[in-house]
Amino acid sequence: MNSSVTYERQGEIALITVNNPPVNALGHSVREGLLHALQEAQGDAQVRALVLLCSGRTFIAGADIKEFGKPPQAPSLPEVVNFFEQSDKPCVAAIHGTALGGGLEVALGCHYRIAHHEAKVGLPEVKLGLLPGAGGTQRLPRLAGVAKALEMIVSGTPVDAAQALKHHIVDELFEGDPRAAGITFAQRMLAESLGVRRTGEQTAALNAADNATLISVKRAEMEQRMPGAFSPPRCIAAVEAATRLPLAEGLQLERALFKECLASEQRAALVHAFFAERQCGHIDGLPAQTPVRSIERVGVIGGGTMGVGIALSFVNAGVPVKLLEVSGQALKRALQRARDIYAASVTRGSLSREAMEQRLELLHGVQDYSDLAEEDLIIEAVFESLEVKRQVFERLDRVCKPGAILASNTSSLDLDAIAAFTSRPQDVVGLHFFSPANVMRLVEVVRGRHTCAEVLASAMGLSRTLQKVAVVVGVCDGFVGNRMIFQYGREAEFLLEEGGTPEQVDAALRKFGMAMGPNAMRDLSGLDIGWSIRKRQRETLPGGYPLPTVLDKLCEAGLFGQKSGRGFYQYAPGSRQPQPNPEVLPLLEAASREKGIERRVLSDDYIVERCIFALINEGAKILEEGIAQRSGDVDVIYLNGYGFPAWRGGPMFYADSLGLDKVLARVQEFHERFGAWWKPAPLLEKLAAEGRRFADWNLNS
Ligand code: 3HC
Ligand code: NAI
Repeated sequence: MNSSVTYERQGEIALITVNNPPVNALGHSVREGLLHALQEAQGDAQVRALVLLCSGRTFIAGADIKEFGKPPQAPSLPEVVNFFEQSDKPCVAAIHGTALGGGLEVALGCHYRIAHHEAKVGLPEVKLGLLPGAGGTQRLPRLAGVAKALEMIVSGTPVDAAQALKHHIVDELFEGDPRAAGITFAQRMLAESLGVRRTGEQTAALNAADNATLISVKRAEMEQRMPGAFSPPRCIAAVEAATRLPLAEGLQLERALFKECLASEQRAALVHAFFAERQCGHIDGLPAQTPVRSIERVGVIGGGTMGVGIALSFVNAGVPVKLLEVSGQALKRALQRARDIYAASVTRGSLSREAMEQRLELLHGVQDYSDLAEEDLIIEAVFESLEVKRQVFERLDRVCKPGAILASNTSSLDLDAIAAFTSRPQDVVGLHFFSPANVMRLVEVVRGRHTCAEVLASAMGLSRTLQKVAVVVGVCDGFVGNRMIFQYGREAEFLLEEGGTPEQVDAALRKFGMAMGPNAMRDLSGLDIGWSIRKRQRETLPGGYPLPTVLDKLCEAGLFGQKSGRGFYQYAPGSRQPQPNPEVLPLLEAASREKGIERRVLSDDYIVERCIFALINEGAKILEEGIAQRSGDVDVIYLNGYGFPAWRGGPMFYADSLGLDKVLARVQEFHERFGAWWKPAPLLEKLAAEGRRFADWNLNS
């Protein structure tokens, strides 16, 4: 026995307890401990029933992700699960917290499962580029049926205890202590002769006539939604095997497919994304035990697109919000917008009318700054003008209680200048939400020159309250995400002048994996948005920095995107479905002609390199300037805010996986061909020369 798994006997019941904080992952010592405990229980003639449970905050959260890519160590997880299933003494798993991945698979190997009423169970392997590799694809369909198993395995989304009960994944729910509940159930097993019941031997749930249809529909849907993703088709193939092969053969096929996934570049990328997201919370110069301020009441200033979305993010988390607008009319509009957003969720069926009313009760409209005197956090989301922000922050400084956190949602202004409008710059921080703020997971937390540790830690802590990902960034124009996307968007436009069409450029980047093409994205956000910024840039940029003119041409022709029904694409009334717009090509041809560019056919690879390498080169500059702490932070921003494909790990991980020397060679070529815009980032040159990766670098190395 080892310290990760304890074995004890209470009368005729053996209790096997996993104790491997923080999440009871199935590392080598746990697998070994489980096997020894099982052997002991089997060999002990006094034992007639087994209970598997976990100490700490959760049941087993899965295989130990840190072991992936390392040489395997016996016993393997499938061996452990099979050993549980083959036990000739009945066995119950008592689940609390989350039983995920290998954790659920171990529980499926047990003969009975009971779950705390707030527990969740799931097979999230697909999110790590894997498939359940310890029998999950064979056993879950045998309990829950093919439709539910496919849904859970292909999406990776866990289900709550009530759903698990409904779909026969667990047998009973309990309240209170898992240990007591496990013992009670085991006593019942003995009293009522609930004997061995092996999941692998059950076939009733597999007998539905429409399994083949379910599988082919899922396959088609997945190909449409996730082209290029490696593990989802293999998840489906493994579940399909459960419908036609005996258990042992199904398990064999599952194992082979699992190993293919384990060896894939996509698995490495997704595991990188998993750890990068958790790493974001570790901040240079901010000790883990830094005190945080309590945030129980929030004020939001400005009830436009962002203000309302931000307010709803807090309301959704149960935090009351006061929303301040300039006039009664503007306030009424803002509150109506909030109601409309919820009403759309009610119509879609994702929110009940009752929950909508409860949430709206947490949202209060105000017009007077004195109403914000007691708020713990105030987030400004007024027009993007330093002068308007000055007025707001000077007033906040006068009315807010000492210790209140004053935040700005500015997307491009200098946070230090905003902080200087107050007498308490240490309490000022940027909270850059993404639109729509109530939906998008990302928040860039902008650390100003004077932002104090407590305020930064409190702002980062919001990610838990709001269930978002927060990434610390430094002050510069556009911070991390928008500063990089500017380079990407510029290249996408230049490509249109060189000979590309909006359809082709978008299709190439979607094929690469981007959730949306840059031109469709522009149509969505409105082509006019950057018009004034571009005019300003033309005046301020040094020579040698040519700007594309395509967007201006479209704006001059009244093509503003979805809002006007026509942009790079055209849209039927009420539809968001882009259709080719015949007005665009002549405008592109005119732009090319004016610049003396002979239009030519562009390859998809070239399109991707131009756009993605522009992101990478800027990302390298951002790292070197210390605007982002580490390359993983940049990746997290791109995965959560810009639709970058998770299975490529983010732009910086993607660069690492290509090899920085290869990226640099292309950037150098573009530099020679197109000029100063493409000057290679010194950090890219340095790391490429040293044969290193972004992931191995930090500011102090
Ligand atoms: N292996 C190793 N470490 C893990 C882990 C795992 N499976 N799951 C979480 N951790 C670590 C995290 O990295 C983090 O470490 P840190 O404190 O050093 O940053 C710590 O545990 C706590 O994790 P969270 O911050 O995520 O804690 P939460 O309470 O927010 O969430 C959780 C807990 C829901 C369990 C979440 O951690 C999670 O989703 N984990 C991954 C679950 C998963 O994907 N399981 C499947 C693994 S693959 C598998 O089982 C293959 C099998 O089919 C063969
Ligand atoms: P918006 O124009 O939709 O809303 C601004 C709101 O602020 C309006 O309702 C206006 O009445 C109100 N307002 C103006 N001055 C005010 C004052 N002095 N006091 C109270 N309310 C006032 O603008 P949007 O898009 O919501 O942007 C707000 C801020 O968020 C800007 O700083 C913008 O850069 C930033 N941002 C915008 C994003 C977007 O996608 N729209 C994304 C991220 C940040």
